[in-house]
Amino acid sequence: MNTNRTFTMIKPDAVANGHIGAILDMIIKNGFKPVAFKYTALTPEMAGKFYEVHKGRPFYDALVTFMSSGPIVAAILEKDNAVADFRTLIGATNPAQAEPGTIRQLFAKSIDANAVHGSDSDENAEIEGNFFFSAFERF
Ligand code: PPS
Repeated sequence: MNTNRTFTMIKPDAVANGHIGAILDMIIKNGFKPVAFKYTALTPEMAGKFYEVHKGRPFYDALVTFMSSGPIVAAILEKDNAVADFRTLIGATNPAQAEPGTIRQLFAKSIDANAVHGSDSDENAEIEGNFFFSAFERF
């Protein structure tokens, strides 16, 4: 398993608010190299599957609706210590608690629409990257 890769999505709120360029710029300037990249959209079924681990939690239905509400950017990013360093770069799940200068503090407005996703483990980074990208779409 690759321990130097993570998976991210720029979520529908950040795409709709015109933040793709600024967020990608921060990601790249912080040393992450995109090795797979696509502009796409999730159906409710796909979003439900992606977030299946949260099924049963109070926010699950709203999360699925939100994540299938518009286009997203999906990417696999490479860097030493990618998963942990990317979680630091994006900040806390709730943007109100995110450190100054983090992506969520800068670009997210609420915990329900928090601009970016970052994998929480190497294992999930692999699973999530495989969810979006075939072997031919990864470098
Ligand atoms: S938590 O609170 O630690 O369980 O959150 P986390 O495991 O990091 O991820 C939960 C994902 O659901 C999204 N989401 C919410 N989480 C908590 N509360 C509310 N109300 C909520 N609404 C949506 C949250 O952004 C996480 O999505 P990802 O895509 O992993 O960031």
